[in-house]
Amino acid sequence: MKAGSTVTIRPAQHLSGSLRLPGDKSISHRYAMLAAIAEGKSRFENYSTGADCASTLDCLRGLGVHCERSDGNLIEIEGRGLALQAPNGPLDCGNSGSTMRMLSGILAGQSFSSELMGDESLSRRPMARIMKPLTQMGASITAAEDRPPLHIRGGTLHAIRYKMPVASAQVKSCLLFAGLFAQGETEVEEPLRTRDHGEVALRAFGAELKRNGNSTCISGGQRLHAIEGRIPGDLSSAAFFFCAASLFPGSDLVIDSLLMNPTRARLLDVLIGLGVRISITQLEEQHGELVGTVRVEGHQLKSADIAGADSSALIDEIPVLAAIAPFTQSGIQIRGARELRVKESDRIQSIVTNLRAMGARVEEHDDGFTVPGGQTLHGAELDSFGDHRIAMAFAIAALRAQGETHIKGAEAAVISFPAFFQTLESLVQR
Ligand code: S3P
Repeated sequence: MKAGSTVTIRPAQHLSGSLRLPGDKSISHRYAMLAAIAEGKSRFENYSTGADCASTLDCLRGLGVHCERSDGNLIEIEGRGLALQAPNGPLDCGNSGSTMRMLSGILAGQSFSSELMGDESLSRRPMARIMKPLTQMGASITAAEDRPPLHIRGGTLHAIRYKMPVASAQVKSCLLFAGLFAQGETEVEEPLRTRDHGEVALRAFGAELKRNGNSTCISGGQRLHAIEGRIPGDLSSAAFFFCAASLFPGSDLVIDSLLMNPTRARLLDVLIGLGVRISITQLEEQHGELVGTVRVEGHQLKSADIAGADSSALIDEIPVLAAIAPFTQSGIQIRGARELRVKESDRIQSIVTNLRAMGARVEEHDDGFTVPGGQTLHGAELDSFGDHRIAMAFAIAALRAQGETHIKGAEAAVISFPAFFQTLESLVQR
């Protein structure tokens, strides 16, 4: 899809079918970065097809790492041990906050200077959350108004004990990665339990970590070894199809080889609470990550109230929950999700604007929104606001609207799931 592409979505009757999804974005980033600093050649099947994870590979190539991509999603990465090579120019993270924040942890421990830049959206996103602790560890990081580009002068790091003020898995992974290069034991405490793919991946590559309540400790100087495996399907991409299926009694959707990590699967609890029938089978563990098959059968949806730790656990799924909210019996309220304002777009504003364009009643809060249930929406001209999850979420709302919906900037879906619209069409029954 070209820049400025508009996609048209027509109403659906229900969703049916079975599928497998490209690899999880959070795991793909972390596997690629850890493979780069491991010893030996790592090999991953089903690497994320999203542009964000391609940005991570491009940055790693810029740091002298040999990464080969064949058959689309098979990736081989030749580890360099802990020492990367000084880049020739700025490293472009594109739209990917995960690339910039997590790679900074590794670059902080290198004996050279580097610059990390990003696109217009990434250049607006806050970086003080990683700059402050990495500076405390001994790196020098400068950025105008704490926004990208970041100038990092790496060096000898020392361990710190850090209490994260924001619940962010990107920051946690960044600091644990930096901890590998530090002298002593680094301890990271999170205010709420965030996704733990960084910890699970570090262990899979051979590192030892200790967990105590909400704190994780890692000792510096540990060597990583290469791994091989298949990356489980992306649960945040699956969320769009699960929510779409949930909208229509009569839907029957099965997704196999899907990531089932409990720190990512809160959406399934919410859908069950809304009245959706969900069954999980074929559970197994792959490199410490739980993987399984999920079947979703649509039902009349009730209501949901999401706040606090739940909002944090559902942060990437809130746009699609907003998209189905008007069609529930008594609505959905989201609070405690202020972080949505500093994502790829101000997601609270993007959600409220698009829902209103479709004729929905919605109340905006500083940290969320309230959408009453029992509403009828009409097709409309919508904008993705350059945000992949907004483009995909409103394709789902459009399935239950009356008339056609046009989504401008729909190509933003390439960031996490380039085949999203084709996949959706293949499941929709009209
Ligand atoms: C991610 C963590 C979350 C999430 C993002 C991916 C990760 O961001 O929104 O899409 O892979 O660690 P924060 O760390 O900013 O909460």
